[in-house]
Amino acid sequence: MRGMHPEHTVKCLCRRVPNSKGAAVLVTGATDGIGKSYAEELARRGFALMLISRSQDKLDFVAKSLEEQFNVETRTIAVDFGKTDIYTKIEAGLAGLEIGVLVNNVGVSYPYPEYFLHIPDLDNFITNLINVNMTSVCQMTRLVLPRMAERSKGVILNISSASGMYPVPLLTVYSATKAFMDFFSRGLQEEYRRQGVIIQSVLPFFVATKMTRIRKPTLDKPTPERYVAAELTTVGLQSQTNGYFPHAVMGWLTTKLVPISLVIFFGARMNRLQRTGYLQRRKLREQKNGGGFKTD
Ligand SMILES: NC(=O)c1ccc[n+]([C@@H]2O[C@H](COP(=O)([O-])OP(=O)(O)OC[C@H]3O[C@@H](n4cnc5c(N)ncnc54)[C@H](OP(=O)(O)O)[C@@H]3O)[C@@H](O)[C@H]2O)c1
Repeated sequence: MRGMHPEHTVKCLCRRVPNSKGAAVLVTGATDGIGKSYAEELARRGFALMLISRSQDKLDFVAKSLEEQFNVETRTIAVDFGKTDIYTKIEAGLAGLEIGVLVNNVGVSYPYPEYFLHIPDLDNFITNLINVNMTSVCQMTRLVLPRMAERSKGVILNISSASGMYPVPLLTVYSATKAFMDFFSRGLQEEYRRQGVIIQSVLPFFVATKMTRIRKPTLDKPTPERYVAAELTTVGLQSQTNGYFPHAVMGWLTTKLVPISLVIFFGARMNRLQRTGYLQRRKLREQKNGGGFKTD
């Protein structure tokens, strides 16, 4: 699954974008988890930052802390990627800014694994998930890619997920949006490779963030800092990557060694167990608070 780009085998990301002093890095979903770690790691390398996320307070806090730590210029735009009328505001905010690296990171998942028809508020859930996970990627690319192609330089990192490598039952919509992102990335890389733009599809397994609610990082569930530091060493070497050695091993096992039907079967089993546990805990909480709760 990992495509090599022999013409882009330099190790330092800075060499792949217009000089890192002038070019900025744009990160979506930059106030937490993996996105925040990309912002930190690239600020460390001297890039100016454009951070886009939902809450201005959180953006201000992260921007200030990165400015103080790394002495880089930061700008912010607060938008909700669940909406589709935000791109004029983003375009205006980007005027005059040279974007060298775009990290399409923003993403949302299910509150807990669930059967499609039982997802609470299904209509809005579908719209939100598709807008955040898919529309944002295409629209941000529409805004940033023209200048990269013109200058024959630039990097776009699309943070898909290992859930996009095969269907993950009970997280089906999330998994499908991540498969979309992976296909979008790989198709676009072939379209713009000759114009010197690197477009990478990044497919992490579990990382210890707010989204996964994993509090104790382990070797296979790293902190976002550890994951991102490893992932950045693959830019220009792999157009599709799990980004972190233990995840690459898991990717190899689940796509090359184990039949896909078994991966889907065990994914469903794991998610059914998680669903049951989540609903039981929720029912207990409801009962404790004196309210009733219907599981199905
Ligand atoms: N963590 C994992 O194990 C894992 C594995 C595979 C792939 N991924 C992918 O990696 C990406 C980042 O995940 P993460 O775990 O770092 O997530 P996270 O910790 O939940 O952080 C998500 C970030 O996106 C922002 N955000 C969420 N919804 C938004 C919206 N509607 N509009 C604007 N900003 C919004 C959040 O801001 P607020 O704080 O204001 O909500 C936050 O800054 C996602 O695309 C995810 O699918 C994660």
